[in-house]
Amino acid sequence: MLKYVTAKIKSNEKIASGIYRMELYCPDADLEHFIPGQFAHVKVPDHPELLLGRPISLNAVDAKKQTAVIIYQIKGKGTTALSKVNEGTVVESVIPVGRGFNLKVSDKTVFLVGGGVGIAPLLTVIKKWPDRHYEAFLGYRGEEFAYCHNDFGACEAINIASDDGTIGIKGLVTAPIEQRLKELVPDVVLSCGPPPMLRALKALLEPLGVEAQVSMEQRMGCGFGACATCVCGVRGEDGLDYKKVCVEGPVFDLYEVAL
Ligand SMILES: Cc1cc2nc3c(=O)[nH]c(=O)nc-3n(C[C@H](O)[C@H](O)[C@H](O)COP(=O)(O)OP(=O)(O)OC[C@H]3O[C@@H](n4cnc5c(N)ncnc54)[C@H](O)[C@@H]3O)c2cc1C
Ligand code: FES
Repeated sequence: MLKYVTAKIKSNEKIASGIYRMELYCPDADLEHFIPGQFAHVKVPDHPELLLGRPISLNAVDAKKQTAVIIYQIKGKGTTALSKVNEGTVVESVIPVGRGFNLKVSDKTVFLVGGGVGIAPLLTVIKKWPDRHYEAFLGYRGEEFAYCHNDFGACEAINIASDDGTIGIKGLVTAPIEQRLKELVPDVVLSCGPPPMLRALKALLEPLGVEAQVSMEQRMGCGFGACATCVCGVRGEDGLDYKKVCVEGPVFDLYEVAL
């Protein structure tokens, strides 16, 4: 079962079209052992009919100040209600949860690849492992949906692409990745984003044999392994197998998952 703690909302602000940033004060959460890629399971306050917590990646964690930040896009009932919650409200959350990204000592050059709200969890990687060469590849629908792109300053390069060309280059974020791979093949690629982006990324990287990890933002139910809502297909020994994203993920080997 999930262990819920109470967290107090310090701020809950709109930062882009349909996208909100919520900072939580959570003194009872084990933030010391946070691993980038882990998420928060947040119950929507004052909506008892919304029984299930909503899984949202952690965008920033400060163990000393006991704070955690999530960035979420309005999708349905839960995230709409969350966007209306005021500062000071107490929310029940499980923070942090899940299997996160892993960088080996030998992973010196790292590409961070994110699309839409999938960009949110990537910043914590730089904070945890600051001694690496990072290059960021960020894809947005357009400028009005762009957030956090100014926070990747620690990267050697920041490549932005958007569907409508209002920010960065017009087109898919995989275009600058394809170009850059002609000059530099990184030790590892860490990614999070919509399935079409992940499929295109996999197609680029697999022939080069580049190690890659992906955080899967699968639809979730219970969040603790009981309902199988969150299963994703993975390569098994005898063909397709299934894994539960809530307890075995959300981070997987990019080549293991069926996209
Ligand atoms: C590991 C993980 C990390 C995520 N990180 C982020 C993030 O950083 N920012 C962000 O905006 N979104 C993130 N998502 C997606 C987010 O959880 C959904 O958009 C959200 O749960 C939708 O809830 P809703 O009530 O508004 O939508 P509804 O469609 O009304 O939700 C109904 C039910 O489906 C579940 N659900 C619906 N869509 C998803 C989905 N894509 N993923 C998981 N459960 C879903 C809800 O939790 C709820 O139980 C993440 C998902 C996962 C699994
Ligand atoms: S969400 Fe229920 S098993 Fe994963």
